[in-house]
Amino acid sequence: MAISDANTRGSWNSKLGFILAAAGSAVGLGNIWGFPTQVASNGGAAFLFIYLICAFLIGFPVMVAEITIGRKTGRNPVGAFKALSDNKWTYALIGMWGVICGVMILSFYNVIAGWTVSYVFEEVFYFMGMQDWATYISDTDNGPINAVFSTIFMAATVSIILGGVSDGIERATKLMMPLLIGILIIMIGWVLTQEGAGVGLREYLYPDFSRVGVDLVFDAMGQAFFSLSLGMGALITYGSYLSKKENVPGAAAYVTLADTSIAFLAGLLIIPAMYMAQAQGVAIFDDSGNLLASTSLIFQVLPQLFHELGGTLGMVVGVVFFLLLSIAALTSTISLLEVPVSFAIDEFEIPRKKAAQIIGLGILAISLIISFNTSLIGIFVIIFNNIGLPLGGLLICLFLGYYWKTENALSEMENGSPGIRKTLFAKVWPAFVMVIAPLAIAYNLWTALSNLF
Ligand code: PFF
Repeated sequence: MAISDANTRGSWNSKLGFILAAAGSAVGLGNIWGFPTQVASNGGAAFLFIYLICAFLIGFPVMVAEITIGRKTGRNPVGAFKALSDNKWTYALIGMWGVICGVMILSFYNVIAGWTVSYVFEEVFYFMGMQDWATYISDTDNGPINAVFSTIFMAATVSIILGGVSDGIERATKLMMPLLIGILIIMIGWVLTQEGAGVGLREYLYPDFSRVGVDLVFDAMGQAFFSLSLGMGALITYGSYLSKKENVPGAAAYVTLADTSIAFLAGLLIIPAMYMAQAQGVAIFDDSGNLLASTSLIFQVLPQLFHELGGTLGMVVGVVFFLLLSIAALTSTISLLEVPVSFAIDEFEIPRKKAAQIIGLGILAISLIISFNTSLIGIFVIIFNNIGLPLGGLLICLFLGYYWKTENALSEMENGSPGIRKTLFAKVWPAFVMVIAPLAIAYNLWTALSNLF
């Protein structure tokens, strides 16, 4: 048991604790909502295929880079770049960009996470015959309701962060991750035996490669960065609490595998559930014949399915599904908040409690603005997710590859994996960090930005 780490910098109690916490950060709305909806609108398994390539060939090497930087320095993202560059503020800006992205992503993520909780209540109200309440609470454009649920969600996130690394984050994720996986598997088992699910399964697993183009690859890469929590220093921060005894590439491989497996499983749940909804008479295509995606899919098609099922069964399935989303979101919001909190603790010596409360309140203030102007979410997604995270990932690779040097990173990795230099990993990873990942990211960013302007 670690000494009360609410007052110290903190560290993970075990390797499993780190893996579950990092996997908890990775597994979130991006997996259970983002991934299936991207698959639905991007040619089924063709998107899955490109996504897996992006996750393992680009995401995984960047994840190893982030965790190694964190563990080497034992610092937050800003402090880590300062420590590795003799306090050069230009390099510290890479970490600062990460902290900014974390704050901005959390501010809208928190609003969406609030919706997942309000829909737990929506299902219960609907079941109890209180239709007016159900409709009122489930309106995602309802400012006051959004504000209430964002506040609840932020309070839950802050309360875990207050406990520190092992007593707060590690303990909470050790409880929530098995629960999440259990719920997911039970729901898949149930959905796949229902009418219509087979059609969905075919749609999901049959690839339409004619849809693969620059846009799809960009979407898949953005999704991989977001889903693996890369590019903003969340894993630098979590890596900074990791013991020198642990094998960094091994831990990163587990996290990547856990995240992609859960995204795959979420697709196995959501896409068949859509076709199950269609078999129940629910519309699942929009006017132009595309599958409904994003907000309409999660907060319209699926609740309609639960209502069609009716009775206690409909309510139980609905409540459990939205609880699953809430748990997934919470294990991610804590990692998003931990980034600015660790920055405040390390750089300004603010005690954890105070830092968590003040920063939590500040981010909640932005969430409240978004609660009343939900159209801001789309703008934030473009700037901070789609552009911000790949940009952060690119800068991290360039810094590690050309300034700090992969040689030094490999020496750090020898702690916990003494024979690493003899492995294939040690031979190919530098090329991925220095050439392949930066080129792929830069090319994608360039095409995306030129399409935008
Ligand atoms: N990976 C989370 C998800 O898939 O929902 C989102 C996220 C968490 C992104 C933490 C970035 C981050 F640092």
